[in-house]
Amino acid sequence: MMVGGGGGKHRALAAVLCLWVLMSPHSCGAARLEAGSKQTLNVQNRLKRINKKPVKSIQSPDGDIIDCVHISKQPAFDHPYLKDHKIQMRPSYHPEGLFVDNKAASSSTTKERTNPINQLWHQNGKCPENTIPIRRTKSDDVLRASSVKRYGKKKQRTAPQPRSVNPDLINQSGHQHAIAYVEGDKYYGAKATINVWEPKIQQSNEFSLSQLWILGGSFGEDLNSIEAGWQVSPDLYGDNNTRLFTYWTSDAYQATGCYNLLCSGFIQINNEISMGASISPLSSYRGSQYDISILIWKDPKEGNWWMQFGNDYVLGYWPSFLFSNLADSASMVEWGGEVVNSELDGEHTSTQMGSGHFPEEGFGKASYFRNIQVVDGSNNLKAPKGIGTFTEQSNCYDVQTGDNGDWGHYFYYGGPGKNSNCP
Ligand SMILES: *[C@@H]1O[C@H](CO)[C@@H](O)[C@H](O)[C@H]1NC(C)=O
Ligand SMILES: *[C@@H]1O[C@H](CO)[C@@H](O)[C@H](O)[C@H]1NC(C)=O
Repeated sequence: MMVGGGGGKHRALAAVLCLWVLMSPHSCGAARLEAGSKQTLNVQNRLKRINKKPVKSIQSPDGDIIDCVHISKQPAFDHPYLKDHKIQMRPSYHPEGLFVDNKAASSSTTKERTNPINQLWHQNGKCPENTIPIRRTKSDDVLRASSVKRYGKKKQRTAPQPRSVNPDLINQSGHQHAIAYVEGDKYYGAKATINVWEPKIQQSNEFSLSQLWILGGSFGEDLNSIEAGWQVSPDLYGDNNTRLFTYWTSDAYQATGCYNLLCSGFIQINNEISMGASISPLSSYRGSQYDISILIWKDPKEGNWWMQFGNDYVLGYWPSFLFSNLADSASMVEWGGEVVNSELDGEHTSTQMGSGHFPEEGFGKASYFRNIQVVDGSNNLKAPKGIGTFTEQSNCYDVQTGDNGDWGHYFYYGGPGKNSNCP
């Protein structure tokens, strides 16, 4: 049914083309059918590869289906290098932190918090042990992508390059950022606690996200990047929900890597958190504030890059062989927001970043990253040194850093996009 629905759109398009051609209505009809079924076949093949046979499926209130897939049947194991891989069920090392993780939560500034953050699908069930929860890809998800092949990949390079020597690269194809960053050292990971909102997206081909980037190499063709955070992306997910996501690439967003588990790479071990699934509840203006913490670090023994969500969920790891420049350590860490500005009619998009409010408004109004830390060569979490900030157009989206006892190094970031100072 879902396949037919998607195919219908394409058949309608083919029919319009046929009216234009109008050479021989008969052969046009045949070509139309063939193009339609070829597309359908491509989509079905793609879905067959991505969606693994579940042990159990859970219907989420947001319309998602979460498939509980046996851990050894996950997409990672389609990778030829992982055929004989022995899954690591836990990291050999875990970095020691500067902050006791619940201390900040009980501090006066966050006293409004009432509930731990969760994923929406938890309301309707759990995945059994030895399975992992995977958001099922639907044919419409694939059909919204620019091509069946590009589904799950970024359209272009999106890691911001502060202080670029090439000014053309700064305003990269409409992507706008408001970030804090460190560079010039060897980094073995990073952590942050990120305020979670649901920014408004003006157009479905735009997105708004808040994440950290672990970067290795120059900003050339060989940029390695590991990314995680939350995003609203109508094109990728078909709705405006705020979702947990990851991304990785080892060639500057070209052939390698993808979002979530949409290609083979990341090995998930956790049965409670699903990449790409909706986060709930969300922060509201002058209301309750919710945040998620994300830690990514390199296991000094095995060399794999691990990811943890909150205090309790070690999600899994990216095997070190996926990377070149990140094989040893990262050369830069960035934290912050990014939106796509498609600039229709020469006007700036009104797609929001963060809460849609500027940093000056502060707690409960502007979005924040708090307790930002980096992992050093001795596997310790440390305060980042020499934090820089970067934004392409501070009148549209801005960033402001600070530090104090409970929040360590933090920053407020974001903005409304289009406004009287950002026409
Ligand atoms: C997402 O939000 C935009 C406006 O912000 C709206 O036009 C669009 O219909 C929404 N999309 C979905 C799938 O709800
Ligand atoms: C990016 O483009 C905008 C609009 O064209 C311009 O105002 C801004 O100065 C540019 N930013 C940089 C850093 O070049």
